[in-house]
Amino acid sequence: MVPIWIGIIMIIWLLFKIVDSTDIPKLRGLPEASGWPIFGCLFQLGTNHSLALSKLGKKLGPVFQMRLGNKRIVIANSFDSIRGLWIRNQSSLISRPLLHTFHTVVSSSQGFTIGTSPWDESCKRRRKAAATALNKPAVQSYMPIIDVESYSAIKDIFQECKDGQMDISIIPHLQRFALNTSLMLNYGTRFTSSDDKLLKEICNVEAAISRFRSTSNNWQDYVPLLRLFPAKSKEANKFRLRRDHYLNILLDGLKQDITNGTDKPCITGNILKDPSAQLNEAEIKSICLTMVSAGLDTIPANIIFGIGYLSSSHGQEIQQRAYEEIQDIYPDDDAWERCLVEERVPYVTAFYKEVLRYFTVIPMCLPRRSIHDIEYNGVMIPTGTLFYMNAFGGDYDEEHFENPEIFNPERYLGDVEGTQHFAYGAGSRMCAGAHLANRELFTFFIRLITAFRILPPKDENYAAATDAMEANQYHTALVAEPKIFKCRFEPRNKELLAAWLESTRQRTEDD
Ligand code: HEM
Repeated sequence: MVPIWIGIIMIIWLLFKIVDSTDIPKLRGLPEASGWPIFGCLFQLGTNHSLALSKLGKKLGPVFQMRLGNKRIVIANSFDSIRGLWIRNQSSLISRPLLHTFHTVVSSSQGFTIGTSPWDESCKRRRKAAATALNKPAVQSYMPIIDVESYSAIKDIFQECKDGQMDISIIPHLQRFALNTSLMLNYGTRFTSSDDKLLKEICNVEAAISRFRSTSNNWQDYVPLLRLFPAKSKEANKFRLRRDHYLNILLDGLKQDITNGTDKPCITGNILKDPSAQLNEAEIKSICLTMVSAGLDTIPANIIFGIGYLSSSHGQEIQQRAYEEIQDIYPDDDAWERCLVEERVPYVTAFYKEVLRYFTVIPMCLPRRSIHDIEYNGVMIPTGTLFYMNAFGGDYDEEHFENPEIFNPERYLGDVEGTQHFAYGAGSRMCAGAHLANRELFTFFIRLITAFRILPPKDENYAAATDAMEANQYHTALVAEPKIFKCRFEPRNKELLAAWLESTRQRTEDD
């Protein structure tokens, strides 16, 4: 009897050891956050991962290791450590990990986006095609799209605002602005109403998928045993089917337009019509998916948080200063037009940079996987280790930013060179759309601030939260989602605004 029991205990012990093991053994010399068997630190992360990691960083130092289930992860929390690892080691940190929920369940039919693809020849080709489509001259050629879409959103706000007497939610207008910009860029098509059913479907599905894309909230990514209970996978699968449906409608629509000769210039059209583009159907679909989803929640989140802040009491001072500086530079009231071709109002540039830093809408940046060994402060971190950037932690690092918890655009005035914040990540896989995003933010804020005084709501219950953590309603999702708030838009000069809107309308009709 005794040997059988010993055998059973040994088998259980062996099974436990297998389930409890990690892909990379413990890194000697790097502080480690203590965790539980099998689950590692998943419990400690709680519902606000970047905050939990910043707290651990205070105890363990700016860079530490933790295990999440069977994966060993190196976390960087401070501005300097992120810069050191992500920029100085950019060729080693060029790949992305494969995570079960996103890569096996959500993305199984349209392929991965560029931002979630491991580094290989195909990813290199797709990133190159996207970088060409998003470089400075290309972005300038898209400004007519931003002209029309910002016009369209501001026109709707003008109609709805009742001269500043009405509390309104700007979220639907901003969703349409971002989605139309993405659709025009990618497929040459757009929605004319914020109430369109397909528009709502795309916004809802992309927001839900963004929640599945959470870097650290899908426990089945880290604990394979949990995949035996596939409730979450089933839910993810439903969203995948809904996404496939509209992506196919959009791509087929464009192919039909090309056949009929009625297509508008757009990125996918250029690729489809270019016989020398070395991209297969799956790669084209991956680029489409990337372009549709990349700016869909990130751009509106920044604009919405920015508007919420402007509607606060401190926001009144910021608006006034921005408005005066716009007037100084454009005394002939032509900022509405000029913002499409130049970025000449440093305070507004500083304002949107501070919005990007303060709200860091991807608080846990997209994860990386090393493709070479990396030496960090004498510790050898082997190839294949996962690296997570606590971008929010880096952007609130007191060693780098003076009073980081205070919203202060002035920190970006004057000579500010080099890495300014981690809202766009850093290094070799940094956001490829940063220039386009900056142009969209600048244009939108210039137009909004010259058009309206943004005031708090009459009903105080709807006032925007100004603290970045408080303003976000989903801390575990990949991209922050602004809590619903309302504010008032009081036209500064109705005649002038009507004239600007009319000039854009005429241009649009000419097109
Ligand atoms: C304010 C808006 C945006 C924010 C905050 C943002 C943020 C980010 C972040 C944090 C990453 C990961 C970077 C890293 O790992 O270091 C990323 C990747 C990426 N973004 Fe953006 N993004 C924005 C808008 C856009 C837009 C408008 C596009 C294109 C239409 C775009 C295209 C991409 C692409 C292609 C990648 C993947 C890069 C790669 O993996 O090689 N982004 N973005």
